[in-house]
Amino acid sequence: GLPERVSIYEVGARDGLQNESEVVPVEVKAELVRRLVASGLRAVELTSFVHPRWVPQLADAEQLLDLLGPLSTGELAGVRAPVLVPNARGLERALARDVPELAVFVSATESFARKNLNASRDEALAMSGQVVEGALAAGRSVRGYVSMCFGDPWEGDVDAAAVVDVVLALREQGCHEISLGDTIGVATPGQVVRLLDGLAAAGVPREALAVHFHDTYGQALSNTLIALQQGITTVDSSAGGLGGCPFAMSATGNLATEDLVWQLHGLGIETGVDLPKLVATSVWLAGLMGRPSPSNAVRALG
Ligand code: HMG
Ligand code: MG
Repeated sequence: GLPERVSIYEVGARDGLQNESEVVPVEVKAELVRRLVASGLRAVELTSFVHPRWVPQLADAEQLLDLLGPLSTGELAGVRAPVLVPNARGLERALARDVPELAVFVSATESFARKNLNASRDEALAMSGQVVEGALAAGRSVRGYVSMCFGDPWEGDVDAAAVVDVVLALREQGCHEISLGDTIGVATPGQVVRLLDGLAAAGVPREALAVHFHDTYGQALSNTLIALQQGITTVDSSAGGLGGCPFAMSATGNLATEDLVWQLHGLGIETGVDLPKLVATSVWLAGLMGRPSPSNAVRALG
């Protein structure tokens, strides 16, 4: 069966903009976040406290938070608005702010751990452990991402057992939700079922999981649908299909939120999203960035 309602976790302002060659002015980012929330999205990842030399597109993280005001009491109160944090320095930056939810990220593979965090997989898990511990002690909550859950550009197919190990470790550390990342968009539906079966066998409840598909091979909607049939109810996507990862060759944008909403509403599944408003936002942003949105729904409706 399919769920009655799906929680969309919007990553365009972070996963999307981190991979755009153009640096978007911070005022535009604040306006983007406001428009995403106004279109009914209730989980909007804002930015990253990563090294500004690694991701110059998000070097304005503190300024963006200043423009948005306190997250727990200001205009975003009641909206999940996490910030991505890689390590202890990022935690320090987050704890200096009113940031109720953080997100950590660890690769299922050694190669991408090195490329993305300059660390081995175990070192990356030690980094996330430190972040989660400090965040929980400060009364914040933490989402965990596992990258390269299906395929890795340097290692090829990824064994579900390696992913299960990292998911269990992140849950043990205290992450309340784990997002399964197909960082380079190579997964096909059979792999999704195999991984979700493996996670169920390891005792991980479906409610603790989210799926995070990139659309490199056009499989993101199929992968999402099969994940929903397997009991997943939280789906990551990016307005207008922005995004990718600068440290994973060949990664393209995330599943477009508009394409996802079109499918979900067609199935009678509630999202709370006003699709025309969201499309207008992506058309607005694409105009500022000087290139059309890769989302089919945005092109059809925009
Ligand atoms: P490093 O070079 O090993 O850093 O990079 P370090 O720990 O050796 O520190 C070097 C200097 O950087 C020090 O400064 C630190 O203070 C500073 P110095 O003493 O030389 O003046 N530093 C920082 N400054 C600001 N903020 C920080 C920070 N950390 C250290 N947080 C590091 C290690 C983790 C910093 C680096 O590898 C990094 O920033 N990586 C981020 C990569 C990234 O953002 N990738 C994209 C996000 S993940 C993704 O997109 C996948 C996802 O969407 C899911 C999916 O699709 O699979 C989530
Ligand atoms: Mg991603």
